[in-house]
Amino acid sequence: MPADLSPIDKAKFVAAKRAVDYVETGMKLGLGTGSTAAWMVRCLAERIREEGIRVVGVPTSTRTAELARQLGVPVMSLDEAKWLDLTIDGADEIDAQMNLIKGGGAALLQEKIVATASDQMIVIADAAKEVGHLGAFPLPVEVIPFGWQTTKALIEETLVSMDVLNRDVTLRMNGAAPLVTDEANYILDLHLKRIGNPRQLSLVLNQIPGVVENGLFIDICDVVVIGHSDGRVAVRDINSGETSDDRIEFAPTDNIFANMDD
Ligand code: A5P
Repeated sequence: MPADLSPIDKAKFVAAKRAVDYVETGMKLGLGTGSTAAWMVRCLAERIREEGIRVVGVPTSTRTAELARQLGVPVMSLDEAKWLDLTIDGADEIDAQMNLIKGGGAALLQEKIVATASDQMIVIADAAKEVGHLGAFPLPVEVIPFGWQTTKALIEETLVSMDVLNRDVTLRMNGAAPLVTDEANYILDLHLKRIGNPRQLSLVLNQIPGVVENGLFIDICDVVVIGHSDGRVAVRDINSGETSDDRIEFAPTDNIFANMDD
């Protein structure tokens, strides 16, 4: 493992590398967004280069689309692909039931559409993303810009009757201006500390006019791959109930570490 990679990057890399083992030639793949998903795109590009596997990816953000194109991973839109075999993506939090918080990178809308349109979703992460209860990470909610302050007030009112520990809602900024998503929307971050009933909260939030989608992924993830900085990888499959542990060894000269701007 290259000495200059941080422990967290080593953990993300090994999780990504293990998840890409699930890819078979001919597959249509959802390509997630974020730093862990970027490792997955690099690992996938390596398999395309070294083994000649034929795959096509549907990126979940302009960032991921750019990285995939740069590295020679063929891409198409979801409308062209229609349905996918497998999506591999990162997460901000993962609970014991494999429910997730996603959207730290503001790509939750495309990520949820793409993961839902896939036969299988594999989530890759470092061990710090595993939690007992969701909610320490602020829950991102994508809202349309029109009347966003009214939408925020409605969310705050709704949270009063929800099983959460805290109820602060903030608009995500990009410098002095609101952050604008790939779908030209805003993100509200819900600082809840602990979410007692993620399923109920997800349903209720999506009933509010102005809310496009929230970052709770309930019953979407099938497999979680957790990487550790020493190369250990733990795989949990919710459908089979199986868990396995192994270790990834790889050559320090691996040219996967080129183009690491993401
Ligand atoms: C992007 O919107 C997110 O859902 C990411 O998948 C999530 O934030 C994990 O990102 P990292 O892999 O960078 O931690």
